[in-house]
Amino acid sequence: MDKDILRILISEDELKEKVKELGSRITEDYKGRDLMVVGILKGCMLFLSDLVREVKLPLTMDFMVVSSYGSATKSSGVVRIIKDLERDIMNKDILIVEDIVDSGLTLSYLVENLKSRNPKSVKICSLLDKPERRKANVDIEYSGFSIPDEFVVGYGLDYDEVYRNLPFVCVLKPEVYSE
Ligand code: IMP
Ligand code: MG
Repeated sequence: MDKDILRILISEDELKEKVKELGSRITEDYKGRDLMVVGILKGCMLFLSDLVREVKLPLTMDFMVVSSYGSATKSSGVVRIIKDLERDIMNKDILIVEDIVDSGLTLSYLVENLKSRNPKSVKICSLLDKPERRKANVDIEYSGFSIPDEFVVGYGLDYDEVYRNLPFVCVLKPEVYSE
């Protein structure tokens, strides 16, 4: 795997520090509320599991699997829910946890979808943000890192389902994509 890496964009230490910071902000903001963390699989899994350990509050977790039709590196905006939430979210304070907001099409669809179920609030926490590529407007309350328009992998993010287990966020060599 290491031979495919062009350069590390966000190191393990930087990730750890940011997750702590986001966790303590969330802890402050959600005191006395009914927090439910909604992870969007599979990209959220490493980020979410580290993040919730930094949230020092009672909370519940649920997960969704969505697919946005499109190529391996671009989403199309047509979102399909493959696995929905298990429970009702009425009156809950929902915090969506995502790996990255790219075009924003996936999240803008999801936010509307979840809001229609009458939660008390819906906010977004995303590890990464690629603002240059935005097509749909999404409000990211908790944003980890703003990154340039480059395809990244690691810490949950994949290319063709590989590289999710890398402990840092990195850019792959161009030849990996063209193979
Ligand atoms: P959006 O609908 O374009 O915002 O796409 C969001 C989804 O596309 C993310 O949840 C990721 O699964 C995937 N994605 C977007 N950019 C990247 C990237 O640089 N690396 C890996 N996956 C990405
Ligand atoms: Mg993905």
